Amino acid sequence: MSDFETLSLEHDNGISTVTFRRPDKLNAINGQVLTELHEAAEQLAERDGLQTVLLEGQGRAFIAGADIGAMAEMSPEEGEALCKKGHETMDAIEAIPAPVIAAVDGFALGGGLEVAVACDLIYASGRASFGVPEVTLGIIPGFGGTQRLARVVGWQRARELVLTGDNIDAEQADAIGLTCDVFEVDVFEKRVRDVADTIASRAPLAIRAAKRVMRDGRDLPLDEGLEREREAFGDLFDTEDRVEGMEAFEARRDPDFEGR
Ligand code: COA
Repeated sequence: MSDFETLSLEHDNGISTVTFRRPDKLNAINGQVLTELHEAAEQLAERDGLQTVLLEGQGRAFIAGADIGAMAEMSPEEGEALCKKGHETMDAIEAIPAPVIAAVDGFALGGGLEVAVACDLIYASGRASFGVPEVTLGIIPGFGGTQRLARVVGWQRARELVLTGDNIDAEQADAIGLTCDVFEVDVFEKRVRDVADTIASRAPLAIRAAKRVMRDGRDLPLDEGLEREREAFGDLFDTEDRVEGMEAFEARRDPDFEGR
């Protein structure tokens, strides 16, 4: 366990779990949550042997957005500062070298959806719902939602969500490609854990390279993205795991990867 107050950070071999723990406020994000989430992301980025990260919320929400009570009295300068702090925190999640999975078993609204789209993969339970309701409050998404959401679901769907402020259920989210899959509530935890275990069983350096190249390539012209791919592809030929993976294939046995 950790010394954080609004979330917990737990480690189980190569899989770390961040759990948002303000269930009475549906895990709404105030300044302290942002500070602690940023700190947790930085700790994870430095963690040796990290293979996968799970983000989840305690209770009936993943995160129901930025804390509206805390925003109610803010000046424009304070609003902009909150936005900047949100951007830096979402950037810190993206910068974690291992894949990060958002396990959404409840509300992922506003800042909650923005945290989810800063992750590499999103899985939903049947009771999940998603939305960016900021325009119902007289503001716009401010933790990257006007930018990252479109990079996941395309501009048309992102505009529809942002401009209507309407929520969608898990099935609708899956239909627009926001989520990788929807699992029944009673098996949700296990099914998401299975995905984390699968990723953790693959060659760690290859997983990190794949995450990095795809994350960087998202915002690059194709030729520059392909250059990143070439470099990473070549570098992996220099790893023991590449030798092990190919030898294991030839010998028809499971590979034993060391992350070297
Ligand atoms: N900020 C601050 N507090 C929030 C919150 C948020 N974004 N979302 C929920 N809460 C709090 C509620 O104020 C309530 O606190 P209280 O018991 O002290 O009054 C508690 O969490 C439970 O929420 P409640 O609204 O009673 O639950 P519900 O099941 O009736 O509704 C939602 C759930 C998610 C539909 C509703 O809480 C909601 O619309 N939240 C705001 C979503 C939003 O606009 N997010 C974007 C913010 S930028």
